[in-house]
Parts: sequence; C-alpha cells; structure tokens
Amino acid sequence: MTRLVRKAVFPVAGLGTRFLPATKASPKEMLPIVDKPLIQYAVEEAVAAGIEVMVFVTGRNKSAITNHFDTAYELEMELESRNKVEMLEVVRNITPSHVSCVFIRQNMPLGLGHAVLCAEPVVGDEPFAVVLADDLIDDGERGCLRQMVDVFSKTGCSILATQEVAPSETTSYGIVDTEEVGDLVQVRGIVEKPKPEDAPSNRGVVGRYILTSEIFHQLSQTGKGAGNEIQLTDAIARLMAREKVMAYNFKGHRYDCGSKMGYLQATVDYAVNHHHLGEEFEAWLRNRFNQA
Ligand code: G1P
Repeated sequence: MTRLVRKAVFPVAGLGTRFLPATKASPKEMLPIVDKPLIQYAVEEAVAAGIEVMVFVTGRNKSAITNHFDTAYELEMELESRNKVEMLEVVRNITPSHVSCVFIRQNMPLGLGHAVLCAEPVVGDEPFAVVLADDLIDDGERGCLRQMVDVFSKTGCSILATQEVAPSETTSYGIVDTEEVGDLVQVRGIVEKPKPEDAPSNRGVVGRYILTSEIFHQLSQTGKGAGNEIQLTDAIARLMAREKVMAYNFKGHRYDCGSKMGYLQATVDYAVNHHHLGEEFEAWLRNRFNQA
C-alpha cells in the first residue's frame, strides 16, 4: 500500500446553524477570518502537506465554495484593466496550478461518516486526509496535516489528530481511549460525544484525519449512531478491529470556529498576526482595553 497521501476530503455540506443568520444563504466554510474564508485556510494546510487533489463533499446552498476555487473570469478582467496587480495575484493564487478540485454532492444530510463515504469514487483505493474546515489550526512551523502526513509516511497507519479537552466538553467530540506503544499512541477505543461520566478519557479528536481506504468498507457497514447520523467515529471503531489506528497530539493551536467564541478568538489572533493590519490592530486593541 502506498504511504503517499495525495487526496484530501473536505466535508462541507453541513448547515452551520450555530451561525445563523450569517449562514442562511452562504456556507459557514466561507466565513472569513480577517480576509480569507475558513475553507481556504483548510485547503492551504492541505497544499502545505503535499496534497494535490481536493475533494469537496458539498450540499445545497454551497455554490459559493465551488465558485471560490474556480477562476473568477470577470473579476480578473476587471482587476487587470484597472492594473490592480496585487489583488489580481490574490484572486488568481487561491490554489497553485498543480492542485485540482473535485466537487461531489452529498444529497442527504446523513452525517460526517456518510459525507466521507460519498468521496469514495474519487479517492478510490489509497490513503487520504479528512479536513474539517471549522477546526482552524494555526500554521506554526509545520501545519497539522503536514505533521500527520509525515507520521503516516513512517507508520502507514490511520491517524487521528487529538488534543486534551475539558472534561465537561466531551459531549462535543469523538473521545479516544489510548495506549502508548513505543513512540506511538495507539487508539484502543473511540466514542462519539460521550457524557463526561461515560468518556474513556479527555483526549478529543479534532478535525484532521488520515485514513486508509479500508474506512470506506467500514463506513458502508456502519448504521446510524449518535444524533441519528452515520458517524465517522463509529466506522473508525470498526476499522480498529482490523488495522492499527493512531492518535497524534499535533503541535499548533486549534480554534473551534464552529463556535462563536472560537471564531472570535481566531479573528483576534489572526488579525494581530496579520502582515498588513497586525501592528495597527494590536495598538488599537490595547488602547481600547487600556492595556499598557
Ligand atoms: C466531528 C466529529 C467528532 C470530532 C469533531 C472535531 O463532530 O464527529 O468526532 O471530535 O468533528 O471537530 P462535529 O464537530 O462535526 O459535530
């Protein structure tokens, strides 16, 4: 089996109800952090990990995502005629030319597991990444997916990005039970969104996975689980019976941009670090809240 991860799946069919009314007519993945939509950060992280095929599993009302990764012909003409060179570069270079984007429709909202299964015809029989765009992970030195792809190239095992979560927050995550085996952390059990008293640990899965194609077979056998949806977590539990699955505590800070609080925190941090705005924004912020 190849240890090269060439494809990433972006499940983007969700309704984004937590951000209504902002997400009534436009996808939550298009919410900007300063000047870039969440989905673009996710794709850039995948590109930095060497991934070349981006597979978007979309739904109704998601055409803005398709358009974002397409050529904006009229806009480019307009910017060119006005000699706006810098902006032209920005809209032209959303993805590098060696990267291709594929769009598949998830025609029923049956859950994350079902969304990933919809990508099978494009992914086929090779390992792939799953990226949930509302988990924004700051670049640091090496993006989270790059770190995971590197681990995968050594182990060939499926890998779940994990981090410690507050015991009261287990109901928002897939929670893993793990065991250290040499340098690696092997997953022994995984439960979707357990109550704190039922959680096997406080190590939660965040939205980055590298999976072998065996997951498709397991997904096809997985019935509805938590929330009456087909859960990726349940298929991973089945996968573990056949193959090793690893947990990986990535380096970097993760913002839960699926929640308003995480979204606002990301906005402030990315604004402070922004190459054009950063200094001015930080000075304004300090002055606003009277910090020396
Ligand atoms: C999904 C997964 C969950 C995982 C989480 C990470 O849940 O089902 O296991 O911990 O993503 O963000 P969601 O946040 O889509 O409800």
